[in-house]
Amino acid sequence: MLILGIETSCDDTAAAVVRDGTRVLSSVATNQDEFHAKYGGIVPEIAGRRHVALLSAAVEDALDRAGTAFESLDGIAVTAGPGLIGSLVVGVAAAKALAFALDRPIYAINHLHGHIFAAFLDRDDAPPYPFLTLLVSGGHTQLVAVKSATDLRILGRTHDDAAGEAYDKTARLLGLPYPGGPQLDRLARDGDPNAYRFPRHRPAEGSLDFSFSGLKTSVRYFLESDAGRNARRADVAASFQAAVVDVLVARLAEAVERGRYNAIAISGGVAANSRLQAAVKAWGERANVPILVPAAKYCTDNAAMIAAAAFYQQDATAADALSLSADPNLAFERV
Ligand code: KG4
Ligand code: ZN
Repeated sequence: MLILGIETSCDDTAAAVVRDGTRVLSSVATNQDEFHAKYGGIVPEIAGRRHVALLSAAVEDALDRAGTAFESLDGIAVTAGPGLIGSLVVGVAAAKALAFALDRPIYAINHLHGHIFAAFLDRDDAPPYPFLTLLVSGGHTQLVAVKSATDLRILGRTHDDAAGEAYDKTARLLGLPYPGGPQLDRLARDGDPNAYRFPRHRPAEGSLDFSFSGLKTSVRYFLESDAGRNARRADVAASFQAAVVDVLVARLAEAVERGRYNAIAISGGVAANSRLQAAVKAWGERANVPILVPAAKYCTDNAAMIAAAAFYQQDATAADALSLSADPNLAFERV
């Protein structure tokens, strides 16, 4: 089954052609960083307008690289939410037009479900339900029990900043350019993770929730102090990263103790983080649990993951090509 995926929920204009939810024939993304960097973050109005300018070319490019034609597609998958409304509508409108013109099914995919199924791209194994995913992106941080392709339950979530947001804000405090997460990751490689002890959030008894705003504030106060002004930035970056990763791995371990899972996956932009990957893999070896980590290019936003989710969730996500609309607050759990 050949699915064209379209993803425009935030600032990446992405299209991909994927066979049977796993074989990525093409995955293209035009990153808009240069347009947003001077503002230090994403400007929604600019993102939407760039999608309009770039999406047709991205779709054609994806088909070309896949060596396929519109007529060979079996369906169109599009991110219907959550995300920026002005960005989502561009992808949804394009997908509806294609589905209608080609007379193919259209699948309305939740962006976060896409991140979860990214773990199975370019891999032979099918999703080993039930599995547990630590989803860490720019807007979300949550632990998800995936019992089937459509039964996904949130076990814990952040009360304030998402992990990626904490990376981006802390990177900014360290004077790193946008987007900060990958830059901080790189800077931290030259630093000592034990140089400074930043706070590790602990949730209330029985909760698997997260909080990162206290950590970010603590880094800010430290940087404003005399010691902080003289500190090596790489040491601060490494110590911040150690605190984030400690909390993520601790919560993951706690969740695994409470349930039975065949595997543990990490996904979302922060899953590309080198220290997080190393820590989760090391923990998985000790605990004897298989760990699934998407290739770095599938951790951050891409359209292949949207096509993958559509393959696994076909009936549940099939939508009407005339009436489908984008939903910036699309619920994660289906009731
Ligand atoms: O999943 P994603 O591409 O977009 C959202 O759906 O939010 O995640 C983007 C987030 C950004 O906050 C970015 O700084 C972070 O993922 N990120 C990283 C790394 N690569 C991307 N954070 C830490 N280390 C990285 N290597
Ligand atoms: Zn994302």
